Amino acid sequence: MSTTSSTVKAFEVQIKSSGQIIMIPEDCSVVEALSFEGIDIPTSCAQGICGTCLTKVVEGVPEHKDQYLTPEEQAANDQFTPCCSRALSARLVLDL
Ligand code: FES
Repeated sequence: MSTTSSTVKAFEVQIKSSGQIIMIPEDCSVVEALSFEGIDIPTSCAQGICGTCLTKVVEGVPEHKDQYLTPEEQAANDQFTPCCSRALSARLVLDL
């Protein structure tokens, strides 16, 4: 019954190397939320075009919002662009 076109939801990101879990609020990108925790992912375009921020996904299903990966690469769900992409699953585990 939602009339909004946006389905942006909060989700969790887990850092594989440390086990740290970080909440990604609705109004915050993964890159922004991680940088608040002192985890800096290099970015350039912040729009899903350049691929600079590309990060491996170990677990979970990304919601791809980039134009950098091919449809085949997106469907593999093993990497995503955290400057703009989000998650379809409640948690993403990132290879960081
Ligand atoms: S910074 Fe360019 S795709 Fe993420």
